[in-house]
Amino acid sequence: MATYRRFIFVCNGSDCKKKGCKNLQGEIKNLIKSENYKGKFKIIKTKCMDFCKSAPLVVINNEVLKRADLTDIQKKL
Ligand code: FES
Repeated sequence: MATYRRFIFVCNGSDCKKKGCKNLQGEIKNLIKSENYKGKFKIIKTKCMDFCKSAPLVVINNEVLKRADLTDIQKKL
């Protein structure tokens, strides 16, 4: 079983889907591969986390990223 250093929670609730969480999730995957972080991070899709007005929502290392984009996420890796 793999041991991950961090977990990245990506909301897949309906509002986050409307705001592009699927694309963001793909970008995160590519970033992790390109930055050679493969195996150190695990992306977990979640249901709505009740911050819908701040979609798309990502949580990294217990930090909530509201209206998350790839730049925000890169800073947290
Ligand atoms: S749909 Fe993502 S926080 Fe509600």
